[in-house]
Amino acid sequence: MPNTILVHREEPIAVVQLNRPEVLNALNEELMGELLLSLQQLDADDAVRCIVITGNEKAFAAGADIKETFVTATPVTMLAQDLTTKWEGIRKVKKPIIAAVSGYALGGGCELAMTCDIIVASETAQFGQPEVNLGIIPGAGGTQRLARAAGKYVAMELILTGRRFKAEEAKSIGLVAQVYPAASWLDDAKALARTIAEKPPVAVRLATEAIDLAFSSTLEAGLEFERKAFYLLFATEDKQEGVDAFVNKRTPVFKGR
Ligand code: CAA
Repeated sequence: MPNTILVHREEPIAVVQLNRPEVLNALNEELMGELLLSLQQLDADDAVRCIVITGNEKAFAAGADIKETFVTATPVTMLAQDLTTKWEGIRKVKKPIIAAVSGYALGGGCELAMTCDIIVASETAQFGQPEVNLGIIPGAGGTQRLARAAGKYVAMELILTGRRFKAEEAKSIGLVAQVYPAASWLDDAKALARTIAEKPPVAVRLATEAIDLAFSSTLEAGLEFERKAFYLLFATEDKQEGVDAFVNKRTPVFKGR
């Protein structure tokens, strides 16, 4: 049983809740290890089609655990922790992951959200990359992913000042897809997950990979991947099901084949 996270299975979705409320879900080595393991298990489970990562009302995650990790850290201890492998492992999960943010998503917390496929937020959410205030910089993808989401000039201002910004601003710069009321944010995030879980899983997976390629390859390579993925989907049973359901005016049932 994990110590630092809770896994709620509500098939066809699963909710992974970061659970170190006494330190605003600060990300220590144990939590990152347990989070990666649970995501890999859910990724391998056919009954789960979409995953939500969340925290609690007050905090998604307030960043790396400063007290546990940084006080005595040296480059050698940081290297030995090999956090990069854990972050890379999360990025490699194939099922769509939604970050449902309420409260603080700071430093590594904001970076964890940006490692997910979609970010949605309660109107109470506060994002930020405050590492500069500690004499360091974001170390889990923040400089790269925030710049890709918000553009160079907005990312520069946010990372060089370390200032916190609210959900509406996060939406306006392209970091957040939807802002939900404080009373219903988690239910709304789960409803989004259920909507995605009803879609054909192979198409969802290939669309996710194609969109990710827009940030890591040339336009030509991305278009090439998209074209091949598009043709490949014509070999799936779910394409037959989707087209047949449209023609016969019924609701499709997708099986992931
Ligand atoms: N690490 C360890 N403990 C943390 C923490 C963190 N990142 N964030 C909060 N806590 C702890 C506090 O120390 C406090 O514990 P105690 O009760 O034992 O003192 C408890 O959580 C509650 O926090 P506060 O009393 O500070 O709560 P607040 O509401 O007054 O302030 C806050 C909330 C603005 C988020 C403030 O806690 C804060 O600034 N936290 C640090 C945020 C930060 O700098 N994050 C970036 C970390 S670096 C990083 O993430 C690097 C990377 O790229 C991976």
